[in-house]
Amino acid sequence: MWYARRSERPVGLAIIARRSRSAQVRRKAGIPGTAGQRAQTIHDTYSLSADGNTLTIHSASNRDGKENTQTIVLSRQPNDAGEALRQPEITAGKRFKNVMALGDLPASRFLDTMVGFNMSLGVECEFCHVQKDFSSDEKKEKVTARQMIDMTHGINEQNFNGRTEIRCYTCHRGAEKPRSVPE
Ligand code: HEC
Ligand code: HEC
Repeated sequence: MWYARRSERPVGLAIIARRSRSAQVRRKAGIPGTAGQRAQTIHDTYSLSADGNTLTIHSASNRDGKENTQTIVLSRQPNDAGEALRQPEITAGKRFKNVMALGDLPASRFLDTMVGFNMSLGVECEFCHVQKDFSSDEKKEKVTARQMIDMTHGINEQNFNGRTEIRCYTCHRGAEKPRSVPE
């Protein structure tokens, strides 16, 4: 397990600024986009200190004839220092108080799913949630939504080998109640 200890020279803002400025100049001058065709070479040199505890990566790049160099120094840490990163991510069921249908979802994806509900039904969070307590099941819309989650999972399990082919939006199309017959 290696950790970055320090960079021998401050990494980049100046370099990034210079690059974007030159990109702008190109556009203004009307030169056809050259991104992707630019010549760039990167040469990395790795060296390990005699005691085996310090790994130095020296990186030299040349882009459009401009040289950039960067040195990253990594120091060895005990193997268990990375333990936290190797653990499976906490689930929404563990992270939140009253999550059942979406219990297995990684907690980091949970709020995106909620935002997806808003967009699929064309509503705000308060359509399903009472103010100040997201864990409350007071609103019948939230209870219905939980049944809908189970129903949607079920359709995908039974008909699409568990692939997420059917979503809230498939039926709702931005409406609270889907239209079942053509207008
Ligand atoms: C269409 C209804 C619906 C909308 C809209 C909705 N939610 Fe939810 N929300 C639910 C349901 C259903 C659950 C419980 C899920 C379960 O049991 O798996 C839930 C659970 C939650 C929880 C977990 C609370 C806990 O501790 O148990 C949070 C936080 C949350 N929602 C936030 C939001 C936010 C923020 C928004 C708006 C961006 C939002 N929700 C929009 C239906 C909705
Ligand atoms: C197979 C089609 C279908 C899918 C998929 C579906 N719904 Fe529904 N949903 C419906 C229908 C139809 C109704 C209206 C039922 C009624 O009028 O009583 C409804 C009603 C609702 C309601 C109640 C709306 C109200 O005004 O009271 C909520 C909340 C809801 N759905 C949330 C969801 C969520 C969240 C998802 C995705 C997890 C979802 N639905 C996926 C068909 C679907």
